Amino acid sequence: MLILTKGSIDECNTKYAQGGIAAAIGRDDSPGLHYEDTMTAGAGLCDPEAVRILTEEAPARITDLIRFGVPFDTNEGEVALAREAAHSVNRILHAGGDATGEHIELTLASLARLRNISILEYAQATRILMDGVAARGIEAMDTRTHTTLEYEGRHVILASGGAGRLFTLTTNPEVTTGDGIALAYQAGAALSDMEFFQFHPTALRLPGAAVFLISEAVRGEGGVLRNNKGERFMLDYHPQGELAPRDVVARSIVDQMQRSGEDHVYLDITHLPSQLVSARFPQIYRFCLQHGVDITRDRIPVAPAAHYMMGGVKTNVWGETTIPNLYACGECACTGVHGANRLASNSLMEVLVFGHRVVERTVAAPRAAAPVLGPLDGVVDFARCPEPSLELPGLSLARLQGLLWGEVGILRTGAGLQKAVGVLRRWDTTIGPPSDRSTHELANLLTVGRLMAEAALIREESRGAHYRTDFTEPRDDWRHHIVFAKG
Ligand code: SIN
Repeated sequence: MLILTKGSIDECNTKYAQGGIAAAIGRDDSPGLHYEDTMTAGAGLCDPEAVRILTEEAPARITDLIRFGVPFDTNEGEVALAREAAHSVNRILHAGGDATGEHIELTLASLARLRNISILEYAQATRILMDGVAARGIEAMDTRTHTTLEYEGRHVILASGGAGRLFTLTTNPEVTTGDGIALAYQAGAALSDMEFFQFHPTALRLPGAAVFLISEAVRGEGGVLRNNKGERFMLDYHPQGELAPRDVVARSIVDQMQRSGEDHVYLDITHLPSQLVSARFPQIYRFCLQHGVDITRDRIPVAPAAHYMMGGVKTNVWGETTIPNLYACGECACTGVHGANRLASNSLMEVLVFGHRVVERTVAAPRAAAPVLGPLDGVVDFARCPEPSLELPGLSLARLQGLLWGEVGILRTGAGLQKAVGVLRRWDTTIGPPSDRSTHELANLLTVGRLMAEAALIREESRGAHYRTDFTEPRDDWRHHIVFAKG
């Protein structure tokens, strides 16, 4: 087995996951309850079979992680379980307080090294090599020398993460540029649910400080949101208050910021014992303290930021895409588990459950000659979106991010989406051939951002994380997926 990665093996979104990983292992919990919560969060677009598999196989994947050495936090000898938004019971395992992703990532990366798996770092995938309709390998560029090589394999598995770098404000690291999704699309694979992108309600918003996730678990432990007058406001928007679904909390914060004219609200956890706060959230405590905010005494200035991509390369429950021998798992895949809105802490579990299934399938399977996933419904014709004529600003990463943040962000309008689609399409026809890591990344972000804007324009309703101020309610006739495939 060969792993190609454009950075170092342990640099990815997983490493930054704080809150944790969801699994029904508590006494008062069951896979059935976890299933119900996931389906409700997904707002009518989850694939029931994928959710059943996720929730039933999750406890076994936790057992694997414990066996591999992930040190989950415990309480009186039992694994400690925290609460996050829209979960009906405490169900979130965590490690090192708020360092869950880092512990999982480092444990698995060091195991991969020990097992003699070949790992090629600083090798950026630039093209999926095809043999007729089937994948046969990957073209990749050494990001330091810019030389290009081809790697052939029985199966090609995309595990390249999401595209959080599409937006000006994001909790995601620099590597999250939608590479696998764009390459799969260019190779002809179907993409699904591209319009559904989740914004995390609470990222640190402080002049001079990087955007830094303030875990939902802080609200799960009792943290409350206050406006600039010090008033608690979430109960005015939703009966579950701070633990309302993520999209509701993010929009409520935007509403409060628009009323006050400020670029943040406050997350207040000062009423909890300071030792509990610093022990339960050591990373957040340290990061904020370095920037002059003692979270045991001061309210934390926060605002929403781009966080997680629900859409991606369409797969079945074995990770198979519409291209024979091409598989996808993790944030670059759309397994159908998340629907229109991901339930908090389901993403680390999704990649474990479906990554495990991809391995099961590929270890035994011979190369396939014909697609196994299909037939597809709802493949969309781009011609539906009219292209406005407008002045074209030059393409740069900052302009792309600004356009997506402004027009394809938390609150979307038909007019804004039309504008975004027009600009993105024109950039798409004028962008030059990529030559190094940053130009490849920009091209990939442009492909993914354009498809996101196209899908958001087509979906004339609000559902889950997709909110249109010109169509504020869900519509029954829109209870289906938008699937793109390059003709
Ligand atoms: C968080 O800790 O709030 C992030 C968890 C997640 O996105 O699932």
